[in-house]
Amino acid sequence: MVGMGVREIYESMSYGPAPESADLANEWLDSHGRSFGLFIDGQFADAESGQKFETLNPATAGPLALVSQAGPHDVDRAVAAAERARKDWLALGGYGRAKVLYALARQVQKHSRLFAVLESLDNGKPIRETRDIDIPLVARHFYHHAGWAESVERDFPRMKPVGVCGQIIPWNFPLLMLAWKIAPALAWGNTVVLKPAEYTPLTALLFAEICQRAGVPNGVVNIVTGDGETGKLIVDHPGIHKIAFTGSTEVGRAIRVATAGTTKKLSLELGGKSPFVVFEDADLDSAVEGLVDAIWFNQGQVCCAGSRLLVQESIEKKLHAKLRERMEKLRVGSPLDKAVDIGAIIAPVQLERISALVDEGARDGAELFQPSWSCPKEGWFYPPTLLSNVGPASRVAQEEIFGPVLVSMSFRTPKEAVELANNTVYGLAASVWSESLGRALDVAARIKAGTVWVNCTNLFDGSVGFGGYRESGFGREGGVEGLMEYAVEMLPPAVETASSAPRERTGLDRTHKQYIGGKQARPDSGYSLAIGGEDAPRGNRKDVRNAVEAARSAQAAWGAAPAHSRAQILYYLAENLSASDGLDCPDSEKEAAVRAAFRFAGRADKFEGRVHEPPLRGVVYSRYEPIGVVAIVCPDELPLAALAGSVSSAISMGNAVVVVPSEADPLPGEELIHVLEASDIPAGVVNIVSGLRSELVETLARHDDVDAMWCFAGDLEQVRRLSASNLKQTWTPEPFDWRSALELPDVFLRHATQVKNVWVPYGD
Ligand code: NAI
Repeated sequence: MVGMGVREIYESMSYGPAPESADLANEWLDSHGRSFGLFIDGQFADAESGQKFETLNPATAGPLALVSQAGPHDVDRAVAAAERARKDWLALGGYGRAKVLYALARQVQKHSRLFAVLESLDNGKPIRETRDIDIPLVARHFYHHAGWAESVERDFPRMKPVGVCGQIIPWNFPLLMLAWKIAPALAWGNTVVLKPAEYTPLTALLFAEICQRAGVPNGVVNIVTGDGETGKLIVDHPGIHKIAFTGSTEVGRAIRVATAGTTKKLSLELGGKSPFVVFEDADLDSAVEGLVDAIWFNQGQVCCAGSRLLVQESIEKKLHAKLRERMEKLRVGSPLDKAVDIGAIIAPVQLERISALVDEGARDGAELFQPSWSCPKEGWFYPPTLLSNVGPASRVAQEEIFGPVLVSMSFRTPKEAVELANNTVYGLAASVWSESLGRALDVAARIKAGTVWVNCTNLFDGSVGFGGYRESGFGREGGVEGLMEYAVEMLPPAVETASSAPRERTGLDRTHKQYIGGKQARPDSGYSLAIGGEDAPRGNRKDVRNAVEAARSAQAAWGAAPAHSRAQILYYLAENLSASDGLDCPDSEKEAAVRAAFRFAGRADKFEGRVHEPPLRGVVYSRYEPIGVVAIVCPDELPLAALAGSVSSAISMGNAVVVVPSEADPLPGEELIHVLEASDIPAGVVNIVSGLRSELVETLARHDDVDAMWCFAGDLEQVRRLSASNLKQTWTPEPFDWRSALELPDVFLRHATQVKNVWVPYGD
């Protein structure tokens, strides 16, 4: 250094390593002889088969420990233990459970260093992330849910815990995903059987020990390690009442099909291809730092990674230049080095997939940029990568790469930005960058995603629900919506109803019609069904397709209309229903139908989101958004009231519907057409296709442009199974008493909406 000026010293200085010691984690592993059993009923024991597999350190490819592969008998034991523990755990009461959750939060904090190092060793993610993000968020999740445990029974008197929960988690955020699943389940008084990913089981096993110390009663938390086969055993187990899964869309779909024949509650948190939208008025330096967090956090192995950069054309070159300069300075290396930005990729199979996709992108004409330095040779590393000039339809623009690879496309106008952002089957998250808050919030409202970060990215909190739209899955984790995933609604039980007398034909012979796109339409087949004394139209596939198309084109404007306008239109519908004398049904049913329409009109501008206050300077607001096109299959009970009630609930929240009236008695519903025609409901918002359920339901359940399906009669298993095609949301309850249920509007409205959380930090 002698003779060097300050300037030269600064220019020649490079980072020295700042390693975190692995001693604590190694001691813990050694104290277990680097071999682990399953945690069932409060005890560790080897799997019955004695089979074990290795978990490896992705940064060295060296073994860390052996863990047990749980088989059928082990999963049986875990489910039985969870079932046995259920009664006392629930009887402990909210305060008792809250104390246990609080103790878990404290234990996680007390052992945070061990957890952080162990997680970095097992997963390959930088210690800065495990220490500053994963583990603090785990503790926060348990604290937040300790509060809920104390109040759920008071806050949600019509809900009860779902039972034994099977939880299957991935390897990218092992302990965080465990916390997201276990905390809300326990808060309600459920018990769990959780399977960590085969690549990253260690922090879950350490958590099992923490459970012993925190006073979690035996059997309340059971941790079974193993691969996808163990996962399948959990999914298929008849003693499990709810499956919560986070992982690939492919496995999510398989689980949807596997659980179709059961009443298991299901939540799926799947893949994404989240847009990161940068407008020309954004603070570009902040946006570049945002990109570092969006796509290089956790090596890009993040379901909500901002993996698609959409940049306004006028600043594309400038942003790319800044980004390349920043990429050159990123450091890839040992996860335990505190100065490292990017750690190791989880496994060779993932590394191969990443390189294959990048090679394909480059072959297809994308411009490839990677920094000039090279990655460590030991272990599994991949450099930060930018693919620009990518075609929107190319594979790298559409498929989840799940690695440190950013693909970039440009847009000219905000409208084009929104179209590109929504040009994906996924809808997990998005990030919008603009110094104009008006523009950013407007775009946030238009993007179809469960989370939108404004001028920020990858922020999470226990109080804010996280989960996807469309093929990113359904259900939320965190926040009040996440809590709802671990409870079931107590719908009023079904009552026996006397079947109505056959209709008498009165007056002239009539040709009944369907109602599609605001017009009366003859059924495509030209056939009718003889119902009682009359003929009802027999719709077919083509009618269903036309109805879905009409609903799709009407939905965007209806969903964007102010709730007040939708309310007014529904009030008017209720008025016309009340005045109609063509409705051929008992007065009490007509009155129930009118009341339902009136009630949902009243709720249209009241069932709304809330404001969250996570630990950040800023605000998160949640919007309850419509799901989109909802198909409704009506029951035979109360044909008019069930039809009017379900339709008005769905449309009150901005959905458009395709409704199949009661098969046994579609005619009162058909009279509704005249009421609709006399009301101001825009064409296409309500479409009525009557006929045989067996013919219509299959087409609806298979249709990729139907976003949700409420099926109150017919083959529910078929609906759940076929819904896997586009992962549409399903509501397929056992029969219930409609007259009483319509008095509980929010039950319907919860199914009619999905929550979007918009994060808006503020301050300089
Ligand atoms: P995966 O979906 O196979 O694994 C996730 C979990 O599901 C693991 O615990 C696994 O053992 C379990 N599992 C696998 N097959 C199962 C089955 N048939 N039934 C029940 N459980 C089963 O994900 P994988 O193979 O580890 O990664 C493949 C791709 O999935 C990644 O490249 C990425 O695109 C995506 N992925 C998405 C994640 C997310 O957070 N959304 C997390 C992990 C992976």
